[in-house]
Parts: sequence; C-alpha cells; structure tokens
Amino acid sequence: LASIDVDLAPVAVGQAITVTWRGKPVFVRHRTAEEIESAKTVNLGDLRDPVADDARVKKPEWLIVIGICTHLGCVPLGQKVTDPRGDYGGWFCPCHGSHYDTAGRIRKGPAPANLVLPTYAFTGDTKIRLG
Ligand code: FES
Repeated sequence: LASIDVDLAPVAVGQAITVTWRGKPVFVRHRTAEEIESAKTVNLGDLRDPVADDARVKKPEWLIVIGICTHLGCVPLGQKVTDPRGDYGGWFCPCHGSHYDTAGRIRKGPAPANLVLPTYAFTGDTKIRLG
C-alpha cells in the first residue's frame, strides 16, 4: 500500500503511537507544551544534524518520524511512557546508545543523522495521510 490514513484523535497529549507504513515503523507523538518548548529552544549550533523544529513538523503538537535509528537500523525506545527516552527526552536507541530529542534529532551517541521524516499531509485537524 502506498498511502495510509491515520486518525490522530485518540492519541492524547503526551502519548505516542506506532503505525506501520511501507513496512517501516512510523512514530507519531502528541507532544506536550514542554516537549515543544524544549525542541524549539535548542541552539542549532549544538546539533549534529542542525534542523530547526519548525522544519520537522507540520503542526507543533504532532511529531511524526520514521522509527528507525539512523545508525544501524534498530527501533529506538520512547513510544511508551514507561520507555527510556534518553538524555534529551525523545527516544533512546538501546543498540549502541543513541539519544534523540523531542524533535527526533540526534543529540548523543553514534547515529549520524536525525530520525527521518516520512512523507505525509494533514487531511483534517487530526487526520494524516502517510505517503
Ligand atoms: Fe541505534 Fe546503533 S542502531 S545506536
């Protein structure tokens, strides 16, 4: 299937879901105000793969990334509230210790790049189409 529709309405603030798109996990996180703030206030000069938060989201409250570590392809942890999210509050890859922030940007560890953004569009207030 090339495209899939995802209803975001059931995903509460602070929660995340994983959907499968083209055989890959896609992480959808309903970011809290604090998570958005921390993503926006980072000094871009401190980033390995410097991209502003605005350029990684279509709506600040929804972060949507492909859930595959850019190091060697493990699936990072951080989707469940009980998961470790690493030192920057986003995701933690247990394979070799990469830490991603609340915009899915690499902050620490061996991964060379940010979590990749899938192709998607909002088709309603809380509906997206991936692909
Ligand atoms: Fe994620 Fe190596 S695969 S840190």
